[in-house]
Amino acid sequence: MNSYILKGDICYTPSIDKLLTYPDSYLICESGRTKGIFENIPDEYSECTVYDYSGMLIIPGLVDLHIHAPQFPFRGTGMDCELTEWLNKYTFPCEEKYRDPVYAEKAYCIFAEHIKKSATTHAVILSTVHRHSTELLMDLMEETGIVSFTGKVNMDRNAPDSLCEKNTDETVSWLKNISGKYSRTYPIITPRFAPCCSSGFLNDISGIRRKYSLPVQSHLSENTREVKWVNELFPECEFYGDVYEKHNLFGYDRNTQNGFRTVMAHCVYSSDKELSLIKKNNVFIAHCPSSNTNLRSGIAPVRKYLELGLKTGLGSDVAAGHTESVLHAACEAVRMSKLYNIYCDTSAAPLTFTEAFYLATKGGGEFFSEVNNGFPAGTFEPGGNFSAVVINDTAIPSPDVYTLSQRLERAAYLSADAQYIMAKFAEGVKII
Ligand code: GUN
Ligand code: FE
Repeated sequence: MNSYILKGDICYTPSIDKLLTYPDSYLICESGRTKGIFENIPDEYSECTVYDYSGMLIIPGLVDLHIHAPQFPFRGTGMDCELTEWLNKYTFPCEEKYRDPVYAEKAYCIFAEHIKKSATTHAVILSTVHRHSTELLMDLMEETGIVSFTGKVNMDRNAPDSLCEKNTDETVSWLKNISGKYSRTYPIITPRFAPCCSSGFLNDISGIRRKYSLPVQSHLSENTREVKWVNELFPECEFYGDVYEKHNLFGYDRNTQNGFRTVMAHCVYSSDKELSLIKKNNVFIAHCPSSNTNLRSGIAPVRKYLELGLKTGLGSDVAAGHTESVLHAACEAVRMSKLYNIYCDTSAAPLTFTEAFYLATKGGGEFFSEVNNGFPAGTFEPGGNFSAVVINDTAIPSPDVYTLSQRLERAAYLSADAQYIMAKFAEGVKII
């Protein structure tokens, strides 16, 4: 069976305040699942292949809870606007190009190549409204070996006509076409955000979610003007999150009384009531610090999420976030939490690097437990499907010697993605 051993300097965070480090140790993958970390190879595994990464960092695969694949081509440009202007000037014109399968193939191949080489092993991805190019993206994601939830976007208003759908027929065709096609690429229902969806359309999307038992992703309380706009568009709803709640798209279906996985990006301006509902419904928050700075959205109260015990992970939010690196997002989360402490609430302690690394791994990894044998991704605790990344931080020279935890932080801050990644494993398979 698919059993092997990785040798090297191993670290992971089983809980938010604990970084475990195992210098020069052995990490065992047995039949595709994480077995554990050992000082010496136990006798029963003596015949297994050993991948020797001595002197290198071995960490769990990183989890990106929010990334827009079609926006990859324009990342690093258009950073001079706030959300609505950015959507109209850059995002929608870019996403319109995905009607053309030739463009979609070119762009999505580049995206897939980059994601494959990054430290990300698990991602929650948005595509565009286009069915064909979404199917193509899912084919490519499956080929990379990365585990993903990938969702065809839904919109029926407040976007260019060419991106507005008249009904949900294409979404149903998409789900029928991809049914049973993949082993590690899962569909997710994706209303873009409340302003782009009428109430009737949200109800239709919700019906599809229920019928196919799917998870949900969207955006929530990212920008002050957006929050005000939602209040105007949905006067019958108490707050932004209540729009999704009233349409049974917020982690809990009031008709069937069933819970379902839901992830909402941002939550920068979530009121206490909204945060309470997020907690009650077990909704995940994808904290996207780079995006929040680039689009001048604001500073998310991450310490508050953690104190409330909300399920929280990190999102690169490409292209509002300029890079797909989740290690970069972890550093940005720390930096933004310091600004929050200085400018918003001096009683809110900044994040430690350990906390940010937890958010980048097991924090977001819990979103994947239903497709990971009931165990969170992003950890080396035994049981779940095996995912790991090997970073050769010795390739970043220094005259000094560091502890393992210092090496991890240094590798993250010095952008040790991609060029320093020596190997990557997802769901037990070596993909780099
Ligand atoms: N809100 C609605 N669509 C988007 C998007 O594409 N990016 C971000 N950051 N926020 C959004
Ligand atoms: Fe987004």
